Amino acid sequence: LIANVALRRVLDSRGNPTVEADVLTESGGFGRAAAPSGASTGEYEAIELDPAKAIAAAREHAIPRLVGDAHAGNQREVDAALHAADGTDDFSGIGANSAVAISMAAAKAGADVLGAPLYQHLGGTFRGESFPTPLGNVVGGGEHAKEATHIQEFLAAPVGAPSVSEAVFANAAVHARISELLDERGVPAAKGDEGAWAPPISDAEAFEVVDEAVSDTESELGFEIRFGLDMAAAELYDEDAGGYVYGDEVKSTAEQVDYVAEMVAEYDLVYVEDPLDEDDYEGFAELTDRVGDRTLICGDDLFVTNVGRLRDGIDAGAANSILIKPNQIGTLSDAFDAIELARENGYETVVSHRSGETEDTTIAHLAVATDAGFIKTGTVGGERTAKLNELIRIADDAV
Ligand code: PGA
Ligand code: ZN
Repeated sequence: LIANVALRRVLDSRGNPTVEADVLTESGGFGRAAAPSGASTGEYEAIELDPAKAIAAAREHAIPRLVGDAHAGNQREVDAALHAADGTDDFSGIGANSAVAISMAAAKAGADVLGAPLYQHLGGTFRGESFPTPLGNVVGGGEHAKEATHIQEFLAAPVGAPSVSEAVFANAAVHARISELLDERGVPAAKGDEGAWAPPISDAEAFEVVDEAVSDTESELGFEIRFGLDMAAAELYDEDAGGYVYGDEVKSTAEQVDYVAEMVAEYDLVYVEDPLDEDDYEGFAELTDRVGDRTLICGDDLFVTNVGRLRDGIDAGAANSILIKPNQIGTLSDAFDAIELARENGYETVVSHRSGETEDTTIAHLAVATDAGFIKTGTVGGERTAKLNELIRIADDAV
């Protein structure tokens, strides 16, 4: 049984406060986890409260339901208690930030009681031996960097890497190669919130640079590397402007679908996340129909890790993969339910960080536990390498 839950404010990677939870069990098991935080947040996500308010609300409502009552190793029981304590359907009572920190910390305490690594506690002893391909953010802008590309993320995808370690290093090599190519072009580049280069260049030029860096790295390393995008198009979409705003240019929905389909064909993109607005199931379905064979069309703001919204998407034929962010829905159990529904319906799962992160490594374990095809967790920067290095350790049986 859970003996104590401690909550505190700690820093996230943007320097903002976030919620950290410690869970201690009666038998001495211990787990600690912290909530990440988005910038291009989906409209339908569970509600993140001001951390101080989230902590106060969780202390008042959630901790009394957990201490002495819930087993850390029984994730469904812990997460049901969090829902009951919250009393809303979007975690606006205790905050999704308090909920997800406690949910993940309890999972770690449960694993600690078992003496098992977290991925094994979550995935079971007989889980598969496959590892996710890391999607590495190498160039980006949007809400993650000012005066950079309109497209939020250009993502390296080392799909042919023989091991997760070689995949992680491949993404770092693409990131480094891009720095050289930008230098050659005389383009200065700071880094955005996720450590990607944030150069003041057009999207068209970014496609060229990333394509060249990916080809160069592919030749150097000798296995297939493709790339993809997170367009975060809900941030580009402006109904009053009549469509998707790229600086002075506005694309209608039909033009946006054509543009994405053309880029998929020209650059053999392996992955396109949120190519359309978060309410446009129809547009997602049309695009998926057009490009879906060799390309994952992924719903992030569209699905927000929410089983109900995923079910609507499945009915509409919208997308063929789902981004999984535990803090979008508030608990690991809810995230698992979304993963399960996706899998039953042939949707690929992509476990993901947020633009505001901590050193927490839970998502690396979640991706391995659930046999996710991909994990999106950046390329460089300590809060990103925390997850990538954990993947390498898991593959090495060293956690
Ligand atoms: P966010 O961005 O964490 O700022 O929402 C990540 C994403 O859109 O995938
Ligand atoms: Zn996204």
